Amino acid sequence: MKRIAVTGGAGFIGSNLTHRLISEGYDVVVVDDLSTGLLSNVDQGKSALHRVSITDSKALGKALIGCETIFHLAARGSVPRSIKNPVATHEVNATGTLNVLEVARANGAHVIFSSSSSVYGRNMKLPKDESMWLGPMTPYAASKLAAEGYVQAYAKAYGVPTTLLRFFNVFGPRQRPDHEYAAVLPKWIWLAMQGEPVDVYGDGSASRDFTYVDTVLDIAILAMKEKVLTEGAMNLAYGNRISLSDTIEMLKSHFPNLQVNYKSERPGDVKESQNDPGLLKTLFPSIVPKQFEVALSETVQWLKEFGQSVANGPATVD
Ligand SMILES: NC(=O)c1ccc[n+]([C@@H]2O[C@H](COP(=O)([O-])OP(=O)(O)OC[C@H]3O[C@@H](n4cnc5c(N)ncnc54)[C@H](O)[C@@H]3O)[C@@H](O)[C@H]2O)c1
Repeated sequence: MKRIAVTGGAGFIGSNLTHRLISEGYDVVVVDDLSTGLLSNVDQGKSALHRVSITDSKALGKALIGCETIFHLAARGSVPRSIKNPVATHEVNATGTLNVLEVARANGAHVIFSSSSSVYGRNMKLPKDESMWLGPMTPYAASKLAAEGYVQAYAKAYGVPTTLLRFFNVFGPRQRPDHEYAAVLPKWIWLAMQGEPVDVYGDGSASRDFTYVDTVLDIAILAMKEKVLTEGAMNLAYGNRISLSDTIEMLKSHFPNLQVNYKSERPGDVKESQNDPGLLKTLFPSIVPKQFEVALSETVQWLKEFGQSVANGPATVD
């Protein structure tokens, strides 16, 4: 049986991926320090959890022995956290990625890396494509760009097979709704479920290119099975820009009494986000993304049924 590693496998995307890999019969190794991830997300009967930090190169090397593919998702997420503590963000996101690449170099493993559209930063041009210049505006974005650099360097200098995916706004089941840095969709759904109002910063015209987590998994797993390697980075979003107001309207079909507080724009918030999915469609022509409204309904349903399992997790450490 193929042995596959998922770093960050107790987190939102990593735990969804782990469950899918287990259901397809793979032998899965999870590496997670549980700093923001949840033990309850890990099926310990069916996967091997190594509670280690990717900054601990020795422990990481031991945990990843024999893994043919490493999905590298562990990261210190969130822009505000990185602004509070840039060094900690660099250590996990940049140095931690370097440690993962060293293990892959030693073992001949394929690394599938999760970067972020935040690397575009100051570049306001839309839609985003992979040939555009990058201008990180936060330590989080800088750490992801540093990691991207190492991923590409290890591919060129050592021939490590790599697939470099830049996620935009991913959402879906198992995304934590409750903490200070929670993403907008689970946060809104969770508040709506408690009958609480939601905050919209600005007039609601700001937009996001949301991708459902199942679609991200379809691509990541196909990249593993068919060893789809990227020359540089590949943006992972389908170019379906949705405004926050339209999202609120869709949520009202689930929560008709939803109250919205419009507040003034927050400095530093990205106004528009949209990908040009040209390269994505060329490299993964068989993948059809789930429609936003359908995916949103599935997420609402999941949070109603199982939301307690991901709420009230550990507070994030600054
Ligand atoms: N969710 C998104 O919309 C999005 C967008 C862009 C990029 N990404 C990237 O995708 C990846 C997964 O994101 P997510 O939303 O699932 O995040 P998440 O916070 O839910 O998961 C990250 C996991 O990494 C673990 N982790 C953190 N530091 C670690 C360390 N030092 N050693 C081992 N494990 C550690 C956490 O405990 C957590 O389980 C991250 O690399 C993130 O930067 C996500």
